[in-house]
Amino acid sequence: MNRCSRIPGFYKLTPAERRARLREAASLGPDELGQLEAPAPLDFSTADHMIENVVGTYALPLGIALNLRLNQRDYLVPMVIEEPSVVAAASNAARMVREGGGFSAEADDPIMIGQVLLSEVADTTHAAENIASHREEICALADAAQSGLVRRGGGTRGLEVRILEPATKTAPGLLVVHLYVDCRDAMGANLVNTIAEAVADRLAELSSGQVGLRILSNLADRRCVRVRCNVPLPMLSTNGHNGAAVARGIAEASRFAELDPYRAATHNKGIMNGIDAVALACGNDWRGIEAGAHAFAARSGVYRPLAIWRMTGAELEGYLELPMPVGTVGGCTRVHPGAKLSLALLGAESATELGMVIAAVGLASNLAALRALATEGIQRGHMSLHARTVALRVGATGDQVEQVARELAALGEVRADRARLILDRLVNRSPSEVQS
Ligand code: MEV
Repeated sequence: MNRCSRIPGFYKLTPAERRARLREAASLGPDELGQLEAPAPLDFSTADHMIENVVGTYALPLGIALNLRLNQRDYLVPMVIEEPSVVAAASNAARMVREGGGFSAEADDPIMIGQVLLSEVADTTHAAENIASHREEICALADAAQSGLVRRGGGTRGLEVRILEPATKTAPGLLVVHLYVDCRDAMGANLVNTIAEAVADRLAELSSGQVGLRILSNLADRRCVRVRCNVPLPMLSTNGHNGAAVARGIAEASRFAELDPYRAATHNKGIMNGIDAVALACGNDWRGIEAGAHAFAARSGVYRPLAIWRMTGAELEGYLELPMPVGTVGGCTRVHPGAKLSLALLGAESATELGMVIAAVGLASNLAALRALATEGIQRGHMSLHARTVALRVGATGDQVEQVARELAALGEVRADRARLILDRLVNRSPSEVQS
């Protein structure tokens, strides 16, 4: 479906007005966004079936990142996150990228890895060869355990045997068998775990060893997504910093992260701000994505940035690559009403498309953070948003929140005692004074 992700002035509207604009922009039915007006879109009885020992539900803000254009298509991107400024920053960065034609992305097939550990293997070389020569039989056994997946076009695509510890004359060794499973639109944890358990006994026979762990690997490096963008330099300019200087600063920040794991960790955290928020909104396992991302970042033996930036002529070029184990079916995607709504809003037609959008938001989040860091620093923008949280904390409501936050930010001291004084002064004024 064609939708436009540019909604100028969206941030100035009330939540109800934003919902109305979103309903139009995403062509949703009247009921679909209505559930967001309820105190929590997740009802107690659904929650009680999702996890154990449920005593309540826990709400977080759901915001919409705007301006995202990816592979010539616009997306309205739902984000669930507790941290201020992430949604605004992703939207601003997406606006800059849009001027350069938007993000472009491509992805691997949705292949997840199942691991079966085999221990007590007396001859690891022979066992590995024997398993490899029974590849077709093992793949057929795996497919028989997930015939539904095969009917949907997925299934086991191959296997690999890795000797983790070669057997010696005096001690047996350890092998691990990797099963490569095309999970189509599912994240695939359950599918892969079922397959790993289904083939484990036969693998033990073929290796003359013992079955060990049978579980998917979160280092889903056969299911990577790669996103690129080109930002015209003038789009980067900000308060007294011209675009070329900002781009040089961003390229230098990238270099810093490429050379220093201490910085790379924070650089990647900024990427995951965007990625986790979309994954969470869409009911996906963000811990799985996190685990895969950081293992991938360290695959060379040194922890490195997932995204890099270079200045080329009149543009700044960004590139991000990471594993993206996500689904549009399974897990809580069809159970949690908020996740269902987010997926409908986003309109991604496959898990692969969802993964590309998530990664584009990660690259946008990284661009926004580096642009702020390379210019005025992160605190100024953060502080004005933090001021809103402080205003809420001292009891400001409605229009008071923005007024208290504005005054706090102008003071340059975002403190609760200051906020309380400002609020006291506001509530003691007449309504006409408060408006002015
Ligand atoms: C804060 O949530 C994220 C940043 O620290 C990311 C970065 O430093 O690149 C601003």
